[in-house]
Amino acid sequence: MQNLHLLALLFYSTFFQFLAFSSTQNYQYYYNQEKNYEGSSDLIDLKYHMGPVLASSINLYLIWYGQWNPKHQSTIRDFINSFSSPAPYPSVSDWWRTITLYTDQTGSNITNTIILSGEFHDFKYSQTKYLTRLSMQSIIKNAVTTSNQRPLPLNYHNGLYLVLTSSDVLVQEFCRAVCGFHYFTFPSVVGVTIPYAWIGYSGTQCPGMCAYPFAWPKYSGIKPPPGSNDHIMGAPNGDPAIDGMISVIVHELAEVSSNPLINAWYAGDDPTAPTEIADLCLGVYGSGGGGGYVGVVYKDSWGNGYNLNGVKGRKFLVQWVWNPVRRRCFGPNALD
Ligand SMILES: *[C@@H]1O[C@H](CO)[C@@H](O)[C@H](O)[C@H]1NC(C)=O
Repeated sequence: MQNLHLLALLFYSTFFQFLAFSSTQNYQYYYNQEKNYEGSSDLIDLKYHMGPVLASSINLYLIWYGQWNPKHQSTIRDFINSFSSPAPYPSVSDWWRTITLYTDQTGSNITNTIILSGEFHDFKYSQTKYLTRLSMQSIIKNAVTTSNQRPLPLNYHNGLYLVLTSSDVLVQEFCRAVCGFHYFTFPSVVGVTIPYAWIGYSGTQCPGMCAYPFAWPKYSGIKPPPGSNDHIMGAPNGDPAIDGMISVIVHELAEVSSNPLINAWYAGDDPTAPTEIADLCLGVYGSGGGGGYVGVVYKDSWGNGYNLNGVKGRKFLVQWVWNPVRRRCFGPNALD
């Protein structure tokens, strides 16, 4: 889950201290102190809790909920297609290699294959514009059963459903506590147990919270410096909320793959509030990142920030994740 309080806390409490905590490892140490994990001698007590991971190739289904700008949709589509298509190093699929280092109790790694397998347009807001966490399951149920258009397949073997809500949809906790979350469907609602994730388009509601660092984090209480255009860096695909959403999408994909039933990989002892592999690296996009500093990333010819290459010459900026072998936050743009 992309937890805003966590990001706000990190930004707020460490903004003026990032010089003192400038290395990723120190950042982790600092983070860990905030969380105050009792009794753990390890810096991060990320543990495997014996449940399954997504080891079979993932068939990803997108559910566009509400009215979507086709340009925004193609940016997200290109990002998803970048998992399975070659692009110059460091690419989106290079980034995913860290995720494939996680295994289950049978020794199976998380898959390296994510295929965009279907899209559904819920442009009539089947569950209204006010959604709870549970509404996501009804949206999926509708998408796999409707007779108004071609329904999505109900793929309980290796399907993963992503519900993406448009700017005018209000979601419980969206913009107050979360930018996205992942969970699994209940047999009583959808008929089967399938992992899914929701991510909201933050454009009109809270880019300052969910589109960091492309929109200035207003909640930090720190004023943007003069000449900063109200952001920390420009968005590589032209829309702060979409570029920010892409990092939240990959955050949720990483976590749903490593903790699909909330009983596999997470830190902390509370499964109702697990700290998962992407939560551990919130706000870190490059070497030295943390505490309000994104880290060392690239700049495109317009000066926009990015750290990964994708299909069609696209560039994306996505956060790092916890690497279980290196035991630190990592991405393929790392300097070491
Ligand atoms: C599977 O995970 C193990 C343990 O992290 C790792 O050593 C190995 O390289 C991984 N294999 C692949 C194909 O990613």
